[in-house]
Amino acid sequence: METNTEARKIILSGIQPSGKLTLGSYLGAIKNWAELASDYDCYFMMADMHAITVRQDPATLRATVLEQIAQYIACGLDPDSCALFIQSQVPAHAELAWVLSCYTMFGELSRMTQFKDKSAKNEENINAGLFTYPALMAADILLYQADLVPVGDDQKQHVEICRDIAQRFNGVYGDTFKIPAPFIPKVGARIMSLQDPTAKMSKSDTAAGGCIYLLDKADDILRAFKRAVTDSYTAVRYAPAVKPGVSNLMQIYSSVTGKTFTEIEDEFESKGYGDFKLAVGEAVIETLRPIREKTEELLNNKDYLAEIYRAGAQKAGYAANKTLRKVYKRVGFVQ
Ligand code: TYM
Repeated sequence: METNTEARKIILSGIQPSGKLTLGSYLGAIKNWAELASDYDCYFMMADMHAITVRQDPATLRATVLEQIAQYIACGLDPDSCALFIQSQVPAHAELAWVLSCYTMFGELSRMTQFKDKSAKNEENINAGLFTYPALMAADILLYQADLVPVGDDQKQHVEICRDIAQRFNGVYGDTFKIPAPFIPKVGARIMSLQDPTAKMSKSDTAAGGCIYLLDKADDILRAFKRAVTDSYTAVRYAPAVKPGVSNLMQIYSSVTGKTFTEIEDEFESKGYGDFKLAVGEAVIETLRPIREKTEELLNNKDYLAEIYRAGAQKAGYAANKTLRKVYKRVGFVQ
């Protein structure tokens, strides 16, 4: 049993409550949080401040945040040992983000893939928050002196800029922030749309059946997998460049069953795509069923969820303020 909590390494990660949680965010992020959690001190947040960089309907945002906390717990995060909190309830995030934005360069922000993608999709609302988003994300991570940031492949660039900002700040003021490392899973780091395997599966996926949500019903999941885009060959082989659809399904199947790509190829050696898609769909249904049931149960107990996020904000706030005070002192703010 772990007795010295001071010596434990720290994890921080978060998800924007800008839509329903997807199979991509589960396999790329939350599943790994739950697997790593017992070895670390953990902070997992609902990144609601990030979400408003794109227009949100207020009532939907509130409901999504609550649903997301319930899903974090349903996915196996223990609220007694992890701080599960809402970003906007810990003011230190906004405060440190301002300081860090003064140590973040225009040029490096301009190179961020997510900024380029999102501004192309939201031409009518290319706001400053969308641009400075990585400074807020750096604050999220650095406030907790996180060692590890478990994320999917698409967030790697943001963890890298966070490291650059931390190193720059430490270079000026001396050791202030721990330099965090990204944790990107070997399998499941980039789950693609079932309808367009060249595009990432995302909350805003508009193609019917392209995206699986954690709370989807079994019938809908099975239908989506049966209709998943593959190719005109027949062999179940892992070859992302030539067989992106089949390779994506193999990633999903491997991630939910723990089977290697070779084991999967052997399993479907003499079978067709139809059998393979059915097997993937059924494996996903079995993985998501307990998550959906537990989430529905938790959403009936809003008082319990409120207790969790209040306690989470208190624990997170305590750790975050320690770092913030240190930063304010270093930059010369009067104490
Ligand atoms: P977000 O909300 O877009 O996604 C949440 C997490 O899910 C991963 N993910 C995927 N992984 C594999 N395949 C996919 N198709 C897929 N879609 C999403 C993402 O990589 C991410 O890990 N900026 C972050 C949220 C954030 C954050 C942070 C993360 C805010 N502050 C601090 C870590 C640390 C974001 O937009 O993730």
